[in-house]
Amino acid sequence: MKHLLKMLDLSTEEIIEILNLADQLKYELKHGIPHPHLKGKTLGMIFQKASTRTRVSFETGMYQLGGYPLFLSSNDLQIGRGEPVQDTARVLSRYLDGIMIRTFEQKEVEDLAKYGSIPIINGLTDFCHPCQVLADLMTIREFKGSFDGLKMCFIGDGNNMANSLIVGCLKVGMSVAIACPNDYQPPKEILDFAKGCGSKFELTDKPMQAAKNADVLITDVWASMGQEGEAEKRRKAFAGYQINDELMAQAKADAMVLHCLPAHREEEITEKVFEAHANEIFEEAENRLHAQKAVMVKLMA
Ligand code: CP
Ligand code: NVA
Repeated sequence: MKHLLKMLDLSTEEIIEILNLADQLKYELKHGIPHPHLKGKTLGMIFQKASTRTRVSFETGMYQLGGYPLFLSSNDLQIGRGEPVQDTARVLSRYLDGIMIRTFEQKEVEDLAKYGSIPIINGLTDFCHPCQVLADLMTIREFKGSFDGLKMCFIGDGNNMANSLIVGCLKVGMSVAIACPNDYQPPKEILDFAKGCGSKFELTDKPMQAAKNADVLITDVWASMGQEGEAEKRRKAFAGYQINDELMAQAKADAMVLHCLPAHREEEITEKVFEAHANEIFEEAENRLHAQKAVMVKLMA
């Protein structure tokens, strides 16, 4: 494993190795055991979109590993003024030991990896959000003990979160059901992978059907970053694609609920369900720190 660009690139073994290391790093942090695996290393963090969790967890994680994080806003970088990614990649490779990037196009992340010579970590693109899904898998395993026989149900937009969850959950052996409006299905590349997993995958436009017997219910915002202009249209298209009491009644009695955050209460999830599952959702947010530290150690140590 040279980069973390998308879940499709990871083998099941690589995912499990990251999760095991993440559990160990979480234990070490909680018990005050130092773990300076990246002493003296630097991570550049390029942000072309807003962030709370990704920025703070990568920055703190790098400090905890003994390294140094640099926050690089695209407002200040020449990349924001049109300097080609090929040149940015070759320049930054000479200063840094790794790059985390949050941007729009997946191609930009793939190009950084192609033209640079240091590990690249995808901190969210329009196509996927692998760091979040590694934290989600870590949280599911933490609460449920193992992935064996579990069903994950995603309700809402076939977006970056849906894409990474479909691939990540199927790769660790879970069953996956996705309910989204017909015009908002995940892209072909993801559906082709998922259909290759046979009966483990179900795609429907009926939330109640997808949620049947689910062990984990997950949703995300109806309008992602960059789609603010379509918010009204999306609100109409996604009406009914909500995690609420009625939907929860279809799932197993001990089903957990995850949300990558930020959440829009009374849109994709009701306040009541959100607060009833807040312990899981905020553990998930914490696990971003541990999962990403594991990724950085794997790639940069
Ligand atoms: N879930 C997530 O990536 O949060 P931020 O946008 O705050 O980084
Ligand atoms: N789908 C959301 C996820 C935010 C973490 C977005 O891209 O804005």
